[in-house]
Amino acid sequence: MAKADIQDSLEKIKTVAKINEGKNLKYSILTMGCQLNENDSEKLSGMMEEMNYIKTDKLSDADLIVFNTCCVRENAEDKLFGKLGEVKKYKEEKGTIIAIGGCMMQEKHIVEKLKQSYPFFDIIFGPHTLAQFPVDLCKILYNRKRIEDILDIDGEIIEGLPIRRDDNVKASVAIMNGCNNFCTYCIVPYVRGRERSREPKDIIEEVKQLAEQGYKEIMLLGQNVNSYLRTEKENNIHFEEYEGVNSFATLLRAVNKIEGIERIRFISPHPKDFTDDVIEAIRDCDKVCKLVHLPLQSGSSEILKAMNRKYSKEQYLNLVEKMKKNIPNLTLSTDIIVGFPGETEENFKDTLDVVEKVNFEQVYMFIYSRRVGTPGDKMKNQISENIKHERFDRLKKLVEKQIELKNMEYINTVQNVLIEGRSKTNENMLTGRTDSNKVVVLEGPDDLIGKVLPLTIISEHMWYLKGKIIK
Ligand code: 5AD
Ligand code: SF4
Repeated sequence: MAKADIQDSLEKIKTVAKINEGKNLKYSILTMGCQLNENDSEKLSGMMEEMNYIKTDKLSDADLIVFNTCCVRENAEDKLFGKLGEVKKYKEEKGTIIAIGGCMMQEKHIVEKLKQSYPFFDIIFGPHTLAQFPVDLCKILYNRKRIEDILDIDGEIIEGLPIRRDDNVKASVAIMNGCNNFCTYCIVPYVRGRERSREPKDIIEEVKQLAEQGYKEIMLLGQNVNSYLRTEKENNIHFEEYEGVNSFATLLRAVNKIEGIERIRFISPHPKDFTDDVIEAIRDCDKVCKLVHLPLQSGSSEILKAMNRKYSKEQYLNLVEKMKKNIPNLTLSTDIIVGFPGETEENFKDTLDVVEKVNFEQVYMFIYSRRVGTPGDKMKNQISENIKHERFDRLKKLVEKQIELKNMEYINTVQNVLIEGRSKTNENMLTGRTDSNKVVVLEGPDDLIGKVLPLTIISEHMWYLKGKIIK
């Protein structure tokens, strides 16, 4: 597989580090998107720290501010423009360097808007040019001339960038990038390009290194993880089999063997690609969590067709049945969009029906958002904001009722909980997650962090459970 040559970037990291030495410079990074976007932010942070910038959460203290944008839904745009308004004054007062990266920068109309209304930025770069960031930054330090570093073609796989991880217990590992599915509501294929998988060896070695560093949970990331290596196989693109890995199922099995790792999760698989070998791997691998995120998007076959999802309501429900039958203790979470163009009351009722039937552990609900350049945006039968919100509220009510009932079922059960750290909202409590990804808080000492403990669940509070150590 083609890998990007990052030699120039690694050299520029050293150059900038020298320029910055002893200056006590600070950086802030604002991450606005999905877990892949967060993973990119960890790489950007890794590069900035190697270049002698120290992290700060206070934008007013930063000498370098990086926005890592997302464009999957509209609210990310509002957030970016709001924040840019805020940082303008820092640029004027102390010359803060402003860099804007991420998926939104692949959208031409957004870049135009930035140039017109927020022309004070220094660098814009896209997901394909992330590794070039030190090169661009170096240019800015020598000559403050605005840089636009956007590639319209798919970037190559990048290996060997420094990374600064946000967490000590859980780590995410991108296994592929891009998407070939072109769901009609989704901007991702246009901004992240076609599917490209990482070499099995690079993934396995990264996870082994994480295990050695003490990480306990690995999240395998990709826009469509269960088509890992598919494009390569279909197009005869060379890849090296490593430790038996030649598909997503074999990848799960290989990661499961890595000593020190306690839990493996993955997002997101596509229902149409959920082959039996993946179901069997989830069943057989003790470290693979039995919570599977299975994006539904809509429960109506008609809307699913318009969304180009390539499965029907019945096929989704059959898949769920098959998975439940084969994987003991399986739980499911999902993504749902309400108000896709043409969605009738009947269609929406199908979505409610699937939610009733599957009884998801968690539902991530989204109001359909028109994305420029997608087929969905050109559809004539857009749904009014009122109806979208009304349906969203109805779905939310149903989901909350289901979660409440589910939470009650946890009371007095024993759950294996991976302790992740101190609770952000209450320093006296530790926080962790069950296999089914439920947040559990408990009282306990710091040395429990990173351990998987059996806890008795003593109470439930909608978004979290309370647990007690078994004496
Ligand atoms: N509008 C609303 N939700 C969307 N998603 C993707 N594109 C859109 C859109 N245009 C949701 C899908 C996807 C999740 C990551 O975001 O549910 O699974
Ligand atoms: Fe978007 Fe569909 Fe690809 Fe997911 S599978 S990234 S929703 S196009």
